[in-house]
Amino acid sequence: MAKLNTNYPILVIFTLLIATKIRASDELRLDNICLNNQNLVKVHFYVHDVSGGPNSTVQEVARAAVSTDDPLSFGKILVLDDMITTGPGRDSKELGKLQGIITSADMKITAMAMSINVVFTSGEYKGSTLSIAGRNQVLDRERRMAVVGGTGVFRFTRGYAIISTYSNRVEDSVLYFVAELTIYTTFCHV
Ligand SMILES: *[C@@H]1O[C@H](CO)[C@@H](O)[C@H](O)[C@H]1NC(C)=O
Repeated sequence: MAKLNTNYPILVIFTLLIATKIRASDELRLDNICLNNQNLVKVHFYVHDVSGGPNSTVQEVARAAVSTDDPLSFGKILVLDDMITTGPGRDSKELGKLQGIITSADMKITAMAMSINVVFTSGEYKGSTLSIAGRNQVLDRERRMAVVGGTGVFRFTRGYAIISTYSNRVEDSVLYFVAELTIYTTFCHV
C-alpha cells in the first residue's frame, strides 16, 4: 500500500505523457481517418450456411428451458462461421467469412436477433471487416439489417444490409442454406 502511494505522482506524470503523445499522433493521422472521403458502395456476395453433419458451419451454444418445445425455438443461441463467395455456388470465388451469433428472439414469429461480422480475406475488400446487427425475420423475402461499423476501408462506415434466401435444400439430413447479401455502405478511398 505504502509503495503504491509513493509511486502515485510518478504514475500520474507518466500517464499524462502517454496521453499527450497519443493525442499528437492522432492529429497526424486525421487525414487517414476518413470522415470526409466516404463514398457509398454496393457490396454483394453469397453466404453458405451448413447445418448438421461433420462440416456444419453452425453450432448451437445455448438454449432456454422452453426452447426445445417451442415451435420457434425461442431462446436458442447459435454461433456460425459461414463461407462467403462471389456467386451462389460453393465453388465460386471465396471472399471470406460471415461469423457471429444468432438468437431466436421472437415468441410470435420466426425472427432472429443477429450480431455478425463479415471478414473479407480476398477480393477488393481483403483485410477489412463489416459489423452487422439487427432483426432478421427469416420468412420475409427481404430482411434488412444495420451496418453498425467496420474496419479497414470500412472504418467509420454506416449503411444497411439486405438479406434474401437464395436456396434452401436438405441432403442426407444436412441443411444447405444459401443467402444473398446486398450491402449499401460507406467506403473509405484513402
Ligand atoms: C466434409 O469436408 C471434407 C473436406 O472438405 C470433405 O472431404 C467431405 O466430403 C465433407 N463431408 C460432407 C458430409 O460434406
